[in-house]
Amino acid sequence: MRAVVTGGAGFIGSALLRHLRASGADSVVAFDNLNSGHRHNLPAADPAVSLTLGDIRDYDAVCAAFAGADFVFHLAAIPSVPRSINDPVPSHDVNINGSFNVFRAAQHCGVRRVVYAASSSAYGDTPTLPKVESMQPNPKSPYAAQKLMGEHYASVFASCFGLETVSLRFFNVFGPRQDPGSPYSGVLSLFMKALIEGQPPTIFGDGEQSRDFTYVEDVAALVYKAALAPSVSGMVFNAGNGDRYTLNQTWDFLKQIAGSDLAASYGPSRPGDVRDSQADTTLARRYLNHAPQFTFEEGLRRTFQWYRESLA
Ligand code: UD1
Repeated sequence: MRAVVTGGAGFIGSALLRHLRASGADSVVAFDNLNSGHRHNLPAADPAVSLTLGDIRDYDAVCAAFAGADFVFHLAAIPSVPRSINDPVPSHDVNINGSFNVFRAAQHCGVRRVVYAASSSAYGDTPTLPKVESMQPNPKSPYAAQKLMGEHYASVFASCFGLETVSLRFFNVFGPRQDPGSPYSGVLSLFMKALIEGQPPTIFGDGEQSRDFTYVEDVAALVYKAALAPSVSGMVFNAGNGDRYTLNQTWDFLKQIAGSDLAASYGPSRPGDVRDSQADTTLARRYLNHAPQFTFEEGLRRTFQWYRESLA
């Protein structure tokens, strides 16, 4: 397998490229503009992993990177619901126009399949839990709408242009290398940093909103399966664990792991925030042989250990 991972220097992308190499991929190119990714996320001592600096909005650069690739894993994006509300133009441009370029270039280069990182945010506040792929999406933020548009393009490239595509709706992925350096960072990375620094985190709202937090190595394993599974082109799958925990429960869990009694502060709820999120994993189990290996607690322990070593 010769693979390109867009966003390969990011938190999830760099876990994925390690997983691809461990699963036997011959070469993996991380295509990344280092906007939110980091060179230091890439494995230092693996000559089969390389970084191509480039932006998915640059069609020619994307095409050059995809030449000779069998599989493209499209993870590059400007993430974050609140960032897409505060500054919608860059996230629209990257997440929609950039994704269009990726599909177009993949088709042009004869790539066998593109696996696209879609988002659980597409469901919005649909009342039923868990969220099933057959539900009508209901995006509540520009980010959610952009990621949903990417799914539509993925399936249209499959139906109109014969490019094999699979979309995976990632559910709040966490784990080592998630960057806690921005107010837009994922909540668990901010919780970890808060505990290590002994500074209270802010919980937006009452903390009773819930998420299906999914450990990054389980997501990487599922993405790889989606590349190889037969008869799934054009389909959309949830990539979650199937559980959900409130932020209050999660903060308590983490404090136990860290042996801390730090109290969180509370602030106003965030615009565009979804209340509850939980994946129905039936479809992914059936078609992709989805079988998460990490309980939430085990994922939290491993992640906290990593932050303790890397932020100390
Ligand atoms: C959303 C998507 C997720 C996607 C991510 C990309 C949903 C359900 N999930 O995550 O799949 O990967 O966008 O950015 O839409 N919070 C605090 N304090 C903080 C930061 C966050 O309380 O300092 C709260 C938020 O208000 C939210 C929860 O923590 O309720 C999770 O926030 P965050 O980690 O930013 O992810 P989502 O927006 O849920």
